[in-house]
Amino acid sequence: MPGKLVVGNWKMNGDLRHNDALLAGLRAGWPVRATREISVCVPFPYLWQAQAALSGSAISWGAQNVSEHAHGAYTGEVAASMIAEFGCRYVIVGHSERRTLYGETDAMVAAKAGATLQAGMTPIVCVGESWAERESGAGESVVVRQLDAVVSRIGGRIAETVVAYEPVWAIGTGRSATPELAQAVHEVLRKRLREHGEAAGNVSLLYGGSVKAGNAKALFACADIDGGLIGGASLNVDEFLAIAGA
Ligand code: 13P
Repeated sequence: MPGKLVVGNWKMNGDLRHNDALLAGLRAGWPVRATREISVCVPFPYLWQAQAALSGSAISWGAQNVSEHAHGAYTGEVAASMIAEFGCRYVIVGHSERRTLYGETDAMVAAKAGATLQAGMTPIVCVGESWAERESGAGESVVVRQLDAVVSRIGGRIAETVVAYEPVWAIGTGRSATPELAQAVHEVLRKRLREHGEAAGNVSLLYGGSVKAGNAKALFACADIDGGLIGGASLNVDEFLAIAGA
């Protein structure tokens, strides 16, 4: 059975004071014995703050990106081993904002997933099609191609990842995929993962893209949706906890 998981992706938001309030609010409001796991992926400078605020709680934390290289002359980059030192559990790799704004290729995303595993953390591998790709009928082939690129690099270790389906057109637009559409894509991804064995078929499959307290329940009720990757709504304690509990 895939684990149920709701992850907040803060993106490039936050400051020390607001983060303190948000992290304390989550810690106070999330039951220690919850059946679902929640996590927050914060900007690099705040990893220490998440670690300090959440250590010993039922909430895990992680980063939003990582270098594909282990160390060396890569000015401005952050290695997986550095992130791991802050007790991180997850690293988001291949978010569509990284792919489209920073030119990350399938091969780079795959290498980043590998670097994350190598450092003992779990990559949250993001896949998703643009609106034009969906309109042209290529939506499913795009997400499968993105997934296959990662599998071709890390092989059976795909079973140690989390996969997030985030249709690009649903991110930050208020236009979430319908539960039917999201489930259909998740089913395709699940089938593809199963080809790599039972454990791979059981990875947690998250949906992301305009998830709010109001639509989370219908999305999470779908057979192959094991939780969510939440952007904007993860910056509000009550909204994020409501989604996590949906
Ligand atoms: P929104 O929830 O703001 O649409 O963002 C989704 C996302 O990109 C999470 O990674």
